Amino acid sequence: MLDTIRAQLATIKERDPAARSSLEILLCYPGLHALALHRLSNRLWRQQVPLLPRLISQFGRWITGIEIHPGARIGQGVFIDHGMGVVIGETAVVGNNCLLYQGVTLGGTGKVHGKRHPTLEENVVVGAGAKVLGAITVGANTRIGAGSVLLRNVAANSTVVGIPGRVIHQSGVKIDPLAHSALPDAEARVIRNLMERIDTLESELARTQVCLREVAAGRPLLEACGGVAQNLKDREILEFLGDADQRGQGSQGS
Ligand SMILES: CC(C)(COP(=O)(O)OP(=O)(O)OC[C@H]1O[C@@H](n2cnc3c(N)ncnc32)[C@H](O)[C@@H]1OP(=O)(O)O)[C@@H](O)C(=O)NCCC(=O)NCCS
Repeated sequence: MLDTIRAQLATIKERDPAARSSLEILLCYPGLHALALHRLSNRLWRQQVPLLPRLISQFGRWITGIEIHPGARIGQGVFIDHGMGVVIGETAVVGNNCLLYQGVTLGGTGKVHGKRHPTLEENVVVGAGAKVLGAITVGANTRIGAGSVLLRNVAANSTVVGIPGRVIHQSGVKIDPLAHSALPDAEARVIRNLMERIDTLESELARTQVCLREVAAGRPLLEACGGVAQNLKDREILEFLGDADQRGQGSQGS
């Protein structure tokens, strides 16, 4: 027990530059209090004690603003900074050394029973207000941007931002298929791609109309009427719409 508290103090000192003394941490860090109460409620939950674990969890929520279901599995060295508004669901797993900020939800989508909350592997950082929903796995060392809503599995060493969450960096490499684009987010990039696609289709239509006029006038088809390969950036648009995964799975199954 003392070892766990010492380890928690060390983690908080290391990860929060605002932490000054052990006494201050012991008295003023709701994340520490919530996790201590969770350890107790989780032990009772695993022993199948009725009601009491939920009461302890609710008491923890009342004094810290952090709601951790007694069934959630929380690793060593986890730090919940500020904490207010954090919700961690029953089947969530939070790996060692993860860092969660205020307003984070590790929740279900409300569509399934059984395992329905996320699994965070080691050393994941979840930014303030981010929502991680469903029985998804977030790979080790991943950072989820403040305010993101993540609904899909993410590989290790990624950075995810936006609604829905998109991977913008992986293993330190920036993922940006449109290097010329100065637009800042995934939605803007896809809108830009769709605009390019509309431009391409409009010029194709204009060219087809010219060809039809040539044919109607009884003249031979111009060489220019032949098809031209288009770069319509389908993959990026499908990924944005969430269809890419389904197509991938479909083709594996067939
Ligand atoms: C996601 C995060 C980890 C990225 O940090 P980083 O690797 O330093 O990335 P950058 O700041 O270089 O940003 C990379 C791109 O993502 C965008 N971005 C960063 N954070 C974002 C966020 N939360 N939501 C949407 N876009 C974001 C940036 O605008 C930038 O876009 P661009 O390349 O088109 O200019 C960080 O921005 C973040 O949100 N951390 C959480 C911090 C937090 O919750 N603190 C609470 C303290 S109380």
